[in-house]
Amino acid sequence: MATAPAEIIADRSGAGANAAPAVQAIQATKMFLDGAVIAYRNLNLEIKRQEILCIVGPSGCGKTTLLRSIAGLTDLSTGELLVHGKPVKGPPDGVAMVFQHFGLLPWKTVYDNGAFGLRMSGANEATIKERVTRYLQLVGLAGFEKSFPHQLSGGMQQRVGLVRALAMNPSIMLMDEPFAALDAQTRETLQEELLSLMQRPEERKAMVFITHSIDEALLLADRIAIMTARPGKIDEILPSPFGWPRDFDSVQRNPLFAEMRAYIRAKLKAPTDPAKAKETA
Ligand SMILES: Nc1ncnc2c1ncn2[C@@H]1O[C@H](COP(=O)(O)OP(=O)(O)OP(=O)(O)O)[C@@H](O)[C@H]1O
Ligand SMILES: [Mg+2]
Repeated sequence: MATAPAEIIADRSGAGANAAPAVQAIQATKMFLDGAVIAYRNLNLEIKRQEILCIVGPSGCGKTTLLRSIAGLTDLSTGELLVHGKPVKGPPDGVAMVFQHFGLLPWKTVYDNGAFGLRMSGANEATIKERVTRYLQLVGLAGFEKSFPHQLSGGMQQRVGLVRALAMNPSIMLMDEPFAALDAQTRETLQEELLSLMQRPEERKAMVFITHSIDEALLLADRIAIMTARPGKIDEILPSPFGWPRDFDSVQRNPLFAEMRAYIRAKLKAPTDPAKAKETA
């Protein structure tokens, strides 16, 4: 199996070797319904500052729950979860989330939807204007400020969701299948826009990106975490061999693309080994 040159990760680790990782989960467990449902169990994971970590895993393995835990929207049952070295108790500073279904407010304009997070955090109007205008421009929505969500295509609505998160200048972006509802072409466009944004040093941030698309993970990720079926655990983490800058064509032309794709597919298809599951109980 391919391994990534260390500098791919090191280059984007940012903030010096001594800085705490963006996110650290140590033996983290989340149960629902008094333990009747275990979303993830004894999960260990470290997310570096400024890396793009894609998470793939079977439906129901706890991916969304893990993101919600990092966002401070739900408490752990046992174990530890640290964001920038501090235990998560409620929504941590510097964390923004982008949802699968846009999450826009239909009665607000594109501009006001984009500004929503910043306004809630108490930013002044001048900062809001400067930041929202800048990101609307970067994602190609300049001129649509006064439109309402129902007047936009799905891809445009998802861009507004991105603007809302990016405008907050988060150090950690949590993305829960943000492009899953889009058609293939729009999805590819947004993936490339996101990559070219992350290529700008001033825009780099830790990104946790959940996807069911192996191709999307291979394109976007600095590292790919593969989760096991419920109760979810990190099964394996694969560093990306594709380096920066990268785009759809260069990644797909690389012979390692097909190899990694087949490997991840096989892993996701493999039935859970009951002996292994017992080990982790
Ligand atoms: N609020 C809740 N109450 C009870 N059970 C829950 C709750 N939220 C999630 N679960 C359960 O936890 C498990 C993990 O759910 P989660 O949404 O995290 O999975 P997922 O990996 O994101 O799945 P998908 O790929 O389908 O989005 C599921 O069995 C789900 O039913
Ligand atoms: Mg989910």
